[in-house]
Amino acid sequence: MDVIASNSDLDAKEALVAATSFITNTIRTLIYNPKTPNVGHASDNDDKLNQISLSEVSLHDLPDDCWIIIYDRVYDVTNFLDNHVGGFDIIMEYAGRDSTVAFAGHSNLALSLLKQYEIGILPPHERIYRYPGTLKISSSLPE
Ligand code: HEM
Repeated sequence: MDVIASNSDLDAKEALVAATSFITNTIRTLIYNPKTPNVGHASDNDDKLNQISLSEVSLHDLPDDCWIIIYDRVYDVTNFLDNHVGGFDIIMEYAGRDSTVAFAGHSNLALSLLKQYEIGILPPHERIYRYPGTLKISSSLPE
């Protein structure tokens, strides 16, 4: 058996690799290009917000000083804890942390309540959802 690949085998392999990489790059460009419509969530509002880092948020993890992160925005929900229909303790589990996944599924009413507690946004390098060029994974981000 011939263990050394012939030139034509190599050519075919190289052509396949080149074709795969072309297709991958094209898809990547279409998806990640910030100018592609409906991609990325960065809004003009983001620049106007106070930037608060994850480590700063983590210091506010007490019932009388409770900050949480939802879709990269930082909320001081200290005064909301006692009014939460889902209970005080469930929010406290996320005090000082990201609670986006736990929050997802709330009603539009809950989304609209968030604004009054908003105190800032994560710095760009710590954002997951509101970054130009990221995939649009949810249509219900609070503005
Ligand atoms: C740590 C994040 C949060 C978690 C894990 C959480 C969890 C829950 C759960 C489990 C319920 C369901 C109650 C039930 O049906 O028995 C609920 C309801 C509710 N929560 Fe939260 N919550 C969080 C943060 C918030 C925040 C920050 C707000 C608004 C500022 C909010 C507003 C509401 C409202 C209005 C309801 C009533 C149902 C609805 O309209 O979706 N929650 N929550």
